[in-house]
Amino acid sequence: MSHQSDLIAEDIGAYLKAQEDKSMLRFITCGSVDDGKSTLIGRLLYDSKLIFEDQLSALEADSKKVGTQGQDIDFALLVDGLAAEREQGITIDVAYRFFSTDKRKFIVADTPGHEQYTRNMATGASTADLAILLIDARKGVLTQTRRHSFIVSLLGIKHVVLAVNKMDLVDYSQAVLADIEIEYRAFAKNLGIENIMSIPISALKGDNILTPSENTSWYEGPTLMHYLETVQVDDDRAAGPFRMPVQWVNRPNLDFRGFSGTVSSGTVRVGDPVKALPNAQESTVKSIVTYDGELDEAVAGEAVTITLEDEIDISRGDVIAGKINPPEVADQFEAKIIWMSDEAMLPGRPYLIKTAAKTVPGVVTDLKYKVNVNTLEHTAAKTLDLNEIGICNISLDSRIAFDPYKESRETGAFIVIDRLTNNTVGAGMIDFALRRSSNIHWQALDVNKDARAEMKHQRPAILWFTGFSGSGKSTIANIIEKRLFARGRHTYVLDGDNVRHGLNRDLGFTDQDRVENIRRVGEVSKLMVDAGLVVMTSFISPFRSEREMVRRLVETGEFIEVFVDTPIEVCATRDPKGLYKKAKAGEIKNFTGYDSPYEAPVNPEIHVETAKFSAEECADQIVSYLEENGYLNANGNGKK
Ligand code: ADX
Repeated sequence: MSHQSDLIAEDIGAYLKAQEDKSMLRFITCGSVDDGKSTLIGRLLYDSKLIFEDQLSALEADSKKVGTQGQDIDFALLVDGLAAEREQGITIDVAYRFFSTDKRKFIVADTPGHEQYTRNMATGASTADLAILLIDARKGVLTQTRRHSFIVSLLGIKHVVLAVNKMDLVDYSQAVLADIEIEYRAFAKNLGIENIMSIPISALKGDNILTPSENTSWYEGPTLMHYLETVQVDDDRAAGPFRMPVQWVNRPNLDFRGFSGTVSSGTVRVGDPVKALPNAQESTVKSIVTYDGELDEAVAGEAVTITLEDEIDISRGDVIAGKINPPEVADQFEAKIIWMSDEAMLPGRPYLIKTAAKTVPGVVTDLKYKVNVNTLEHTAAKTLDLNEIGICNISLDSRIAFDPYKESRETGAFIVIDRLTNNTVGAGMIDFALRRSSNIHWQALDVNKDARAEMKHQRPAILWFTGFSGSGKSTIANIIEKRLFARGRHTYVLDGDNVRHGLNRDLGFTDQDRVENIRRVGEVSKLMVDAGLVVMTSFISPFRSEREMVRRLVETGEFIEVFVDTPIEVCATRDPKGLYKKAKAGEIKNFTGYDSPYEAPVNPEIHVETAKFSAEECADQIVSYLEENGYLNANGNGKK
């Protein structure tokens, strides 16, 4: 057993103290099983005697049973923890392992090398200080090496170890290492990876892992373990400017008001002038409180509660920063997004964007291009699929404090969350704020919505009809408009077919075009509500997300969802435009209900069934709803 285990047995206190004082290196290993990745990690753990005895005997038994190394130990078995991996011989997820030597503690994220798993690799790389890129000496720099390097650079890892493995199979040739190194350095220069250390190794035989190998007498550099133990990864977090995203406002009684969170970068001291963002209010640090008492200063990584000299308005999700060199504040950015969901990213679709402390609604307004991770080529794209990386403009519902990702991985990163499922669907890195973000302001006008509504004696709203083509949306909207018009009300009907002749003539029927169609119609309806009108929109609007987006665009009560619930067979029999016939014959693509989905409303304000009732009766039902809820109130705006 190792010396560490002896120490644990003899003096647990001394062992724990020694652990605490050691520095920590987080690294990621990239490469495939074929390159010897799992063997390498197994070797690092085994040679440094960090495997416990019970694991070891299991390993020896397994190696003889399923191993690929004859009577030798198959180190890959130690690392390939998942049963599926053992059977398929591939690594399929991120595995974090902790180990330590006399000099350092390590957390290694072991991620798969297969192309479709960009997502996992990005997850593993997002917290790493260093990446080991494994290269098979016989094969040299491969497409996958380039792909891994790109993701490594994208996630801000500055140190790369080029571990050129299987040197035993190329006769420990110095020329082989030199060629690989020259090729790799030329490539890495374009990515901005500055610190590259290449080490000739054989994970299987143990060359240059822990002890210098006699087989590579020409090599004068460090062994892999020595390098990992001594490499200086300057802790950017501690060195950076002070930032603390506020996790919660701690107010146990009227005499105490503290702001709790983890310092994400820099140092804060009692007496420091600080600024709270996005509101830009200033104060001075009065005290720094922890469970163990008060501190004079706190550094990156520490969880503290800060109290201030002045009563300023700070809420959860704000960022407290130094007065000098504070983060930027904006609501529109250019960012890189790695897409992690099977369901494609659609520009215009509302998502939740979660940054260090704050979660706000937002949309990708523009997907500028995507990057081919293998060739680094830029290609035009309308959507992002699983594992694809895109450069996008994003627009948020409110302003946030942030730093560009290259300056801070904590306050520059975000995740994208699906609003309906709450799943994480993407990870992003902020490049910079868009100029327009701070230069366009909402023009306040004196004649406002209330005034316009009052003049029209009505409460403006959107009657949002949704249902299959041929369900009766336009027919019912038309009847209602005639009735309201006859009563002197001010209305407008936005109809799918009509709008697609003008404003939306550039849009077709793919998912992303339908999202954009509804987004534009939503914005136009909102303006019409502001104009004081009762707007009726007649669009299939097949996706729940976008209908909910329009609902959130306007005030509570201004969005009335009308589900025109007609079975598709009935619509197909009516077939007013002959489109169902064509869809059946395969002449139209992406036809709703056939090869394009329809997501029925879950809780519509109004539910009409045109297969059971006439269009006139459905219109009666809707007008009654408007009357009962004060939309047609003669005093205007529904207020008495
Ligand atoms: S939506 O899905 O984006 O809301 P919208 O209501 O604007 O659709 O347009 C639907 C109308 O376009 C249908 O009523 C029909 O007349 C016509 N149309 C033409 N092709 C299609 C298609 N592939 N799918 C659905 N509707 C189509």
